[in-house]
Amino acid sequence: MGTEPLLRIENLVKHFHVRLGAFGDTAATVHAVDDFNLDIVEGETLSLVGESGCGKSTTGFTILNLHRASAGKVIYKGQDLAALDEKQMRPFRRDLQIVFQDPYSTLNPRMTVGEAIGEPMLFHKLATKANLATRIATLLGDVGLPSRFAARYPHELSGGQRQRVAIARALACQPKFIVCDEAISALDVSIQAQIINLLLDLQEKYALTYLFIAHDLAVVRHISTRVGVMYLGRLAELATRDELFETPLHPYTKALLSAVPETDPQSERVRTRQILQGDVPSPLNPPPGCRFHTRCPIAMDVCRATVPLWKEARPGHLVACHAVNGN
Ligand SMILES: Nc1ncnc2c1ncn2[C@@H]1O[C@H](COP(=O)(O)OP(=O)(O)O)[C@@H](O)[C@H]1O
Ligand code: SF4
Ligand SMILES: [Mg+2]
Repeated sequence: MGTEPLLRIENLVKHFHVRLGAFGDTAATVHAVDDFNLDIVEGETLSLVGESGCGKSTTGFTILNLHRASAGKVIYKGQDLAALDEKQMRPFRRDLQIVFQDPYSTLNPRMTVGEAIGEPMLFHKLATKANLATRIATLLGDVGLPSRFAARYPHELSGGQRQRVAIARALACQPKFIVCDEAISALDVSIQAQIINLLLDLQEKYALTYLFIAHDLAVVRHISTRVGVMYLGRLAELATRDELFETPLHPYTKALLSAVPETDPQSERVRTRQILQGDVPSPLNPPPGCRFHTRCPIAMDVCRATVPLWKEARPGHLVACHAVNGN
C-alpha cells in the first residue's frame, strides 16, 4: 500500500433541493453531506459507517460524480472530478466503479451474465469481439464462478452469485477504485463472509482501493484499513481501524461502538454501554453548532453555537469535537 492519496476530497458538499407539503409548494434543502474532507490512500479499504440516512451513499455517489456536488472538490489524477460534465467524466469512469447492495439494480434482467460483463469491456475497448469470450471466462473465474455461467440470466442465480456477477462487471473495467455501497448487507451471513474474502482477494490481485460503506461494525473491523464515522452529513472521526475501535475519541463513535456486542465476555462485563438518546435530527434542519449536540451526553454551550473544527487529535487520527484537543 502506498501513502499517496488516490483521491483527495476537499470540502465536499451535497445538498438536495426538494419540495415539501401536500402540494409541493414549500422549498427545502436536505443537508446530506457537508464539508467532507478526506484523502483516500491507494490500496486501502476505507470504511464509512454511521446510522442510516447520515449521508454515506450520497458521499459515495458524489465522489464518483454520479451526483453533482453542490460545492467542493474531488481530485483524481490531478483533475477535479466535481467540475466535470458527463462527457468530460468519460475517461475517468472506467477507473471508478460502484457495487450496490442490490445487484438487480445494476444487472439488466434481459441480459445474460456474459453480456453484462462483456458490455463495459467492449464500451471501454478493453476486449475485442475475438477475445471477449475468453475475457468473460477469466473474469467469471476471478469471482469464483464457472465459465458456463456466462449463458445464464440474473434470475437464474442466487443472491451471492448475482453479487459475484456485479463485482465481475465492475472489474471488467479494470478499475482503480470501487465504492462498495452496502455490497454485502442483503446477503446471508455465510455468503457475506465469502464475498468479503472475494473482495479482499481481488483487492490484492488487482491493487484495488475500496470505499466500503457498511453498517455492520464487525465486518468493518475485519476488513478496513481506516474507518470514517459520519453523523448527519458530517465526518465526526477518522482513524486507522485499530485506533478507532480501541481508542475512539468522539462521543458519537463511543456510543456507536458501545452498541456492538463484545465477543469477549470478560470485557463485556466491564464495559459501560452508552445508549444514544433520541432520534437523529432531520437533515432538512440540522442542529447548529455540533450536529450531535442534541444527543451528546457531554454537550457544552460552545457545542450549540460553534461547528467543531476537523482537527488531528493524534497522528492520523482526526476528530470534530470541542471536547477533544488538537495536536
Ligand atoms: N436524491 C435525493 N433527493 C433528496 N434527498 C435525498 C436523496 N438521496 C438521499 N437523500 C437524503 O439524504 C440523506 C442522506 O442519505 P443517504 O446518503 O442515502 O444516507 P445513508 O447512505 O447513510 O443511509 C437522507 O436524509 C436522504 O433521505
Ligand atoms: S462537539 Fe460537543 S456536542 Fe459535539 S460531540 Fe463534542 S462534546 Fe458532544
Ligand atoms: Mg446508503
